[in-house]
Amino acid sequence: MTLKEFLTRVSELEKRVSESFDNVRIIEHLEAFFQEFLGKKSQLNELLKHIKDFSPEEKKEVGPQIQQLKNKINQDFLVKRNVLETEALNEKLKEDWIDVTKSEPFSVGNLHPISKIQRRVEQIFSSMGFEIADGPEVETEWNNFDALNVPQTHPARDMQDTFWISKDSENSHENSVLRTQTSNIQIRKMIEHGAPIRIIAPGRVFRNEELDATHDATFYQVEGLLVDENITLGHLKGILEKMLSELFEKEIKIRIRPGYFPFVEPGLEVDIWFELPGKEGKWLEFMGAGMVHPSVLRNCGVDSKKYGGFAFGFGLTRLVMMKYEIEDIRLLSSQKKEFLEQF
Ligand code: PHE
Repeated sequence: MTLKEFLTRVSELEKRVSESFDNVRIIEHLEAFFQEFLGKKSQLNELLKHIKDFSPEEKKEVGPQIQQLKNKINQDFLVKRNVLETEALNEKLKEDWIDVTKSEPFSVGNLHPISKIQRRVEQIFSSMGFEIADGPEVETEWNNFDALNVPQTHPARDMQDTFWISKDSENSHENSVLRTQTSNIQIRKMIEHGAPIRIIAPGRVFRNEELDATHDATFYQVEGLLVDENITLGHLKGILEKMLSELFEKEIKIRIRPGYFPFVEPGLEVDIWFELPGKEGKWLEFMGAGMVHPSVLRNCGVDSKKYGGFAFGFGLTRLVMMKYEIEDIRLLSSQKKEFLEQF
């Protein structure tokens, strides 16, 4: 390559550098610019290789020229990188900006799905004249079992895997349990108010069970109790169908089978027909119910000749799982934010 050719190539390169340089507008373009003009395979490097072919005189002329060009590209590159990085950072800061005096960027929280359904169920039953009752989670053995017609030796006491609470005071003559069912509130409220009575009692219950996707050691139930004159199972069926169709905002199919609970006679199991979109429907056990056993009424001082009624207890947790199509019960007590934010 002659000196003239070489110098022409240098000035062409210089021109191209400044053109491409103007086109580098975002940080992502910089890398390509670097490879093209400063990298190992750049034209600048190619030209540098030819310097050794020139005479010492010629070298004196081209050496400083090409070195100057190299410095210029380097310098430009650094300046540009600085500018673009600052721009990118400013852009990001603009996006990330928050007004701390406003709460919008933060989520304000919402009700847990169980609370939501509980409130809805309470609303529906209130509209049918039921009062909302409450009771303790640590309960005497008498209220949780004896008064409900479950004698000491009766196998039903084992039917619900009970968490027993040891007697910790010398004066206590009675065992306590973590209530295994909300039926304790039937007892408490009938003793308190007598008959007629019309209550529901949502609450947490505890069972010492093997845990899996459908069993947790704690879940929520809703107890119902209606005692008055001339009450029949027809009333129970009507009230239940009304509650379910209001809650699910559509007709819900139920199936009633005989069941056994010591505190009702006859005892019933109620199943509901459950279908997920795209899946085969199935009957799900939904609740236990029946006509209040005369012994239970008597245990609470209610005249069993004059009054009768029905009681039921359903799993609020199960209802929530059906309503929101939740497949793993453990999610409900997991406190996972991504889960809770969906409701
Ligand atoms: N307490 C029963 C249970 O937990 C349900 C039930 C309540 C059954 C009232 C009948 C009447 O399984």
